[in-house]
Amino acid sequence: MKCRRCKAPAIIDIPRHNAAFCADCFTHQCREQVKRAIHEHRMIAPGEKVLVAVSGGKDSLALWDLLTEIDIPADGLYLGLGIGEYSDHSGEYTRAFAAERGLRLHEVDLLRDHGYDVPGAAEATRRAPCGACGLSKRHLFNQVALDEGYDVVATGHNLDDEAAVLLGNVLRWETAYLGRQFPVLPAGPGFARKVKPLVRLSEREMAAYCVIRGIDYQVEECPMADGNRHLGFKELLNQLETKSPGTKAAFISGFWSRGHDAFIAEADEERATLAPCTECGAPTTTGDRCAFCSLRSRAQSATTEQPVTLRTRS
Ligand code: AMP
Ligand code: FES
Ligand code: ZN
Repeated sequence: MKCRRCKAPAIIDIPRHNAAFCADCFTHQCREQVKRAIHEHRMIAPGEKVLVAVSGGKDSLALWDLLTEIDIPADGLYLGLGIGEYSDHSGEYTRAFAAERGLRLHEVDLLRDHGYDVPGAAEATRRAPCGACGLSKRHLFNQVALDEGYDVVATGHNLDDEAAVLLGNVLRWETAYLGRQFPVLPAGPGFARKVKPLVRLSEREMAAYCVIRGIDYQVEECPMADGNRHLGFKELLNQLETKSPGTKAAFISGFWSRGHDAFIAEADEERATLAPCTECGAPTTTGDRCAFCSLRSRAQSATTEQPVTLRTRS
């Protein structure tokens, strides 16, 4: 197996591109894919202030490294979710990465700053923790970006994540979600722009990138993500991809070019009905308190009732 670019021995093959690369050319290829995604979808303009949401996992640490390497300076944001040792270690990887490179890292801790944690929120809602977790992340990424004057929030969602979410949304015809499923979500009143610069790169490629670049990351999966239906969709898509390389990329890029437009109107309608939350001012469709503020007040009582060690499943 030879590197497509320089003909040296290759260390990784990428079946969907029918290509293999040596370590140097692979990192070059990753940078090119990120530049292409940013350019194609007009994610970030020169001089804009970028905030990367960094979980301590491979994707978001690779993203922070890649943006730095292609001369797009970005600060990081780590959100402490209070999921026992998993969160402690994730924070440590993120802080170590930032400190080694002299990068600026913002931190928000759900328990310290908002009086609840994800296990408490799961208990209060009696639903899978990922729902409350995702809601908290979306709200707080946006809030920090607005409070600190960032133009763009970048997340480490990769090709596999996008394909799995798309499959889930299509299977249930979640039309409003489909209208919002795009590599860039524009800014609006109360919203910073959201971008996903890794949409052209797979999970496996991001793991390889971290190994090559010597990036230490949290390898454990979230202990509360058991039963998350996206994990099942990822497995199904991997089976299809093995039989027919390029399936995932074709699925999502076909949706962006030929499907997404059909659902925009519904997402826009929802945006048009937004009004400020009576408590925090964030845009909400409820006409009252936003979903984050309601979750927070319910979760605070569940969180204070029991210490975190009893609530964390591992
Ligand atoms: P997930 O929702 O866990 O699939 O993560 C998707 C993206 O959200 C990651 O690639 C990160 O950019 C961001 N993210 C997830 N968890 C955190 C966290 N605890 N703090 C900051 N960013 C996060
Ligand atoms: Fe949110 Fe696991 S990371 S529930
Ligand atoms: Zn609110």
